[in-house]
Amino acid sequence: MSRLKDKLYDKIEQQRPRINKLNKEFGDVIVDEVTVGQLLGGVRGVKCLITDISYLDPFEGIRYRGYTLPEVIEQLPKPKGGEMPYVEGLVHLLLTGEMPGDKEVEEVLDEFQKRRILPRYVYEVIDSMPCCSHPMTVFATAVMTLQRESFFAKKYKGGISKWEYWDATYEDAMNLMAKLPEIGTYIYAKLYRDGKRIQQNPALDFGGNFAHMMGIAKPYDDVSRLYFILHADHESGNVSAHTGHLVSSSLSDLYLSIASMINGLAGPLHGLANQEVLRWLLELYDKMEGKIPTDDEMSQYVWDTLNSGQVIPGYGHAVLRKTDPRYSLQREFALKHMPDDPLFQYVDKLYKVVPPILVEQGKAKNPWPNVDAQSGVIQWHYGLREYDFYTVLFGIGRAIGICANLIWDRALLYPLERPKSITTEMLEKIAFDPKAKRSKKKDSGE
Ligand SMILES: CC(C)(COP(=O)(O)OP(=O)(O)OC[C@H]1O[C@@H](n2cnc3c(N)ncnc32)[C@H](O)[C@@H]1OP(=O)(O)O)[C@@H](O)C(=O)NCCC(=O)NCCS
Repeated sequence: MSRLKDKLYDKIEQQRPRINKLNKEFGDVIVDEVTVGQLLGGVRGVKCLITDISYLDPFEGIRYRGYTLPEVIEQLPKPKGGEMPYVEGLVHLLLTGEMPGDKEVEEVLDEFQKRRILPRYVYEVIDSMPCCSHPMTVFATAVMTLQRESFFAKKYKGGISKWEYWDATYEDAMNLMAKLPEIGTYIYAKLYRDGKRIQQNPALDFGGNFAHMMGIAKPYDDVSRLYFILHADHESGNVSAHTGHLVSSSLSDLYLSIASMINGLAGPLHGLANQEVLRWLLELYDKMEGKIPTDDEMSQYVWDTLNSGQVIPGYGHAVLRKTDPRYSLQREFALKHMPDDPLFQYVDKLYKVVPPILVEQGKAKNPWPNVDAQSGVIQWHYGLREYDFYTVLFGIGRAIGICANLIWDRALLYPLERPKSITTEMLEKIAFDPKAKRSKKKDSGE
């Protein structure tokens, strides 16, 4: 067994009795109430999922294993001369909850080295996708295609004890994560570079190798590391994380679950918002013929979008009630490396103009920017102009967090997810009952 797996084994053995005790002795303790508004409003804020990998505070933002994102960026080991940390270190942190040192990072680097080769048939499936397929469709298909490699599926067929589920899921997760840079960059080469690709450099780390295969010079390796780390996890209730967890709860293997999560991420209210931001900004850029709009011109554009019944992409959030720290960290990077980029100046101006407008409109609970408001502009600056591809980058990062979650889901034997539905008539009966209790819950983003 590898040392990472050994460590994980110990952590799992420590965690199992906690879950067991909660289930056996406290199973009937009430955790939350559910209102009619929440039922009709996308189950927003109902506490019904558990994960220790990350927690999203509405005002502070995400913490990975208890660490804020600035702490994660500061404390994870970095490659020599690199500004951003190894993605491999994040894998260790998310899986074990422990901040890795150089040795631990080295071990994940080695693990990924051994597992990075992509079977030929995956390239062939990508090659056979019809032209104009969206990159996210190709991405999900490529991951689905790899399902025939699933160690978990093979073991399950042969008869496996439930206590060993996590071990087989770990093997699938490490195998898939190691291959993600190759899958992503091959999709890019196929869709936008006539299949001309750059071979992997096994001496490089996850982010460095990705940048190398994309053919984009420094500091794009740091951009990639930052991007994958920031997008890795956002607790369990967001569409992609929840979809991955739900599908995996039926013991569908990790490949099927990750392909499903990619499909969830491909919606414009979720991961696809990053490409929407670019599309929306470029429309204004064209209109302005490249000039930086005045505050009034920018406000007019925002109001025009709202008045035509569309949302402002990159703004608002289902949980957050402040500026997304993922936005702030990318903003810091942009201020340092590309302050004069014209599109960044648009983004900067939007930060000033949009929140008061959303407040004045009075609908969005959170008028502040989220991760997607900033991310595409950085990619654009470094020459990645095909913005349909941006959500694939998000998906590569997100897959890392979901892989960690799925291993732990299997380790703690979380069961088949099966919420209960009722009919509208039943709901009316509950709501119209004169003795129905009313909640005092206020929106807190939770
Ligand atoms: C992220 C998002 C889907 C969260 O949705 P939510 O939890 O339902 O958000 P709220 O409770 O604040 O929504 C209340 C109302 O404000 C509107 N609203 C929220 N964010 C808005 C935005 N950025 N622009 C315009 N209107 C917005 C909603 O559409 C909703 O309107 P409705 O009552 O007419 O349906 C939403 O903010 C959004 O659509 N943002 C733009 C897309 C985006 O950036 N997605 C990436 C998220 S990381």
